[in-house]
Amino acid sequence: MIIANWKMNLTLDQAIKNCKILSKSKESTNLLISPSTAYIAYLKKNYSKLNFCAQDVSLKADFGAYTGENSAKLFKELGLSHSIVGHSERRNNFNETNDQVKIKAINCIENNIVPIICVGETLQQRKNNSYKDFLAKQLSAFSGLNYLKTIIAYEPLWSIGKNITASAAEIAEIAALFKNLDSKSQLLYGGSVNSKNCREILAIEGISGLLVGSASLDAEELLKILTFY
Ligand code: PGA
Repeated sequence: MIIANWKMNLTLDQAIKNCKILSKSKESTNLLISPSTAYIAYLKKNYSKLNFCAQDVSLKADFGAYTGENSAKLFKELGLSHSIVGHSERRNNFNETNDQVKIKAINCIENNIVPIICVGETLQQRKNNSYKDFLAKQLSAFSGLNYLKTIIAYEPLWSIGKNITASAAEIAEIAALFKNLDSKSQLLYGGSVNSKNCREILAIEGISGLLVGSASLDAEELLKILTFY
């Protein structure tokens, strides 16, 4: 699966333009579009052939007086099948912890939404060689969850939005590490993926899809990536 994480980008007109292009392509069956929450209901209603994904869910499980929040239950109402949780931008900007991300993942699972749990090390952890221990610890925080109902996205922080992609060897090493740790969840890679590097990444054993940020904002570029899937 290819996930297009549009983050808090694109005007509604730009998002509509992208959806128009994407909905005409048969490649879009493997695509999950993750637009701003503000646009999901509108886009889903008007582009019913496309599949949509939330970017985050609330820590709060139920309906209630939680101004500004969007629960997994609400996304279930919209008919969404997946949600990203624990993206590094949420961990960094909003201090989300593994414990909180786990609660969010559980909220998703209880509403039949597959959580795409993001993990990844910093540049410093990579440089001082503590990244494997860090990733093992991060992954262990989610070990109690049903792997059939979760997806893990490996997104090294030093790569996201930086135009630096982890090498095939680096990604393969992490895929093998996760397998050794007995993670049976599907594993995606994210971090500066584009139409030029996606083919090599998709060929790596253990990688079953991609989480694409910047390159996914351009529908034509996204379609090129989809043709390699
Ligand atoms: P990027 O973002 O492709 O722009 O690096 C990926 C992500 O944040 O999921």
